[in-house]
Amino acid sequence: MSNSTKVPFLDLVTPHKELREELLAVVNKAFDTAGFIGGPMVEEFEKEFAAFCNAKYCIGVNSGTDALRFAFMAAGIQEGDIVVTVPHTFIATTEAISQAGATIVFVDINEQTFTMDPVKLREYFETKCSFDVTTKQLIDVASEKRIAAIVPVHLYGQTADMDPILELATKYNLIVVEDACQAHGAEYYSEKDKTWKRVGSMGLAAAFSFYPGKNLGACGEGGAITTNDAALAQRMKMIRDHGQAQKYYHDIEGYNGRLDSIQAGWLSVKLRHLKDWNEARRALAHRYHELLADSKEILLPIEASWTKGVYHLYVVRVQDREGFQAFLEQGGIGAGIHYPVPLHLQKAYQHIGYKAGDFPVTERVAREIVSLPMFPQMKSAQQDETVKRIKEFVEAQVTSLR
Ligand SMILES: Cc1ncc(COP(=O)(O)O)c(C=O)c1O
Repeated sequence: MSNSTKVPFLDLVTPHKELREELLAVVNKAFDTAGFIGGPMVEEFEKEFAAFCNAKYCIGVNSGTDALRFAFMAAGIQEGDIVVTVPHTFIATTEAISQAGATIVFVDINEQTFTMDPVKLREYFETKCSFDVTTKQLIDVASEKRIAAIVPVHLYGQTADMDPILELATKYNLIVVEDACQAHGAEYYSEKDKTWKRVGSMGLAAAFSFYPGKNLGACGEGGAITTNDAALAQRMKMIRDHGQAQKYYHDIEGYNGRLDSIQAGWLSVKLRHLKDWNEARRALAHRYHELLADSKEILLPIEASWTKGVYHLYVVRVQDREGFQAFLEQGGIGAGIHYPVPLHLQKAYQHIGYKAGDFPVTERVAREIVSLPMFPQMKSAQQDETVKRIKEFVEAQVTSLR
């Protein structure tokens, strides 16, 4: 935080000051028991986080990226399979797909929710794929590859529209892995089942990141996979630990992808506060909605009726995005862009062959989005300062147009 910062984009110092004693007790426990890898602290956290997500199993791993990768591998996704996701997400979603050996196919997002558009997904399946009723496989006609999975991303803490996505998955015999890395605790109203469901309980598996800035963040790297499938959980446990279910008996080759005990202990401490922190984020988001309702030049995020979002990020849209961001910065207000370049236009994915114009909603959104300061410990005065600066920007724009 520089001296001129009035409102940081994110404050990670305050929550750790508030929890300092409890967090230090975890370190002392680890030193006293020399429990650094695996053991009771990891197992306890896994139980608690599974319960929090309304899932049967949780497997702690070393990052959200590996959570995705291990879920794909355990679910049997192989070299040459296609995994469908969105181009408006962090690159880890697609890195994990490639690292599992699969091929990435994108479908565009919905402009209101920033998440996978089920209509575009259906369109892709119906116009570019064919379903073999004998093998029950959906094949991408152009590449002749099998579609294996769909990865909806619950971006910014809002859920993707899961009912139609899950319905398509059932129809075409596909698995669904939720990328829940930004959405710990978010809920989805399933019209089909007439009930609210927690993120992490809807797909075959769901991946979470505990990167420090996340709604539930470690003090280092961390991640987890949730699932209701016992056999999948067992395979993911093996994959994270060198392919062994029993020490030194390796059924497969795996990875060193475990969650540290100290991180797990810290996550247990923080998990006790997650509900309150998410509520604080929701309250701040609703206050932003109210305070900025009159600023027509700033497009506010829309919470669809079927999501109870946890506002990992509060993302607005502004035509003059660069001007807006610079204006905020000059006024000491932190802001971010998540993400400026859609994945299909990244250099890393040139080889796939997508071009500008392929995903118009993602491309439009990527030019206009700005993430405003959002963290549970944000004070009303800090939010007022942010809103004041935004209104000054709007006023300056309106004046220049007169
Ligand atoms: C949407 C999304 N997916 C995956 C990840 C990967 O998580 P990690 O950084 O823990 O590997 C992140 C983290 O930023 C993310 O935001």
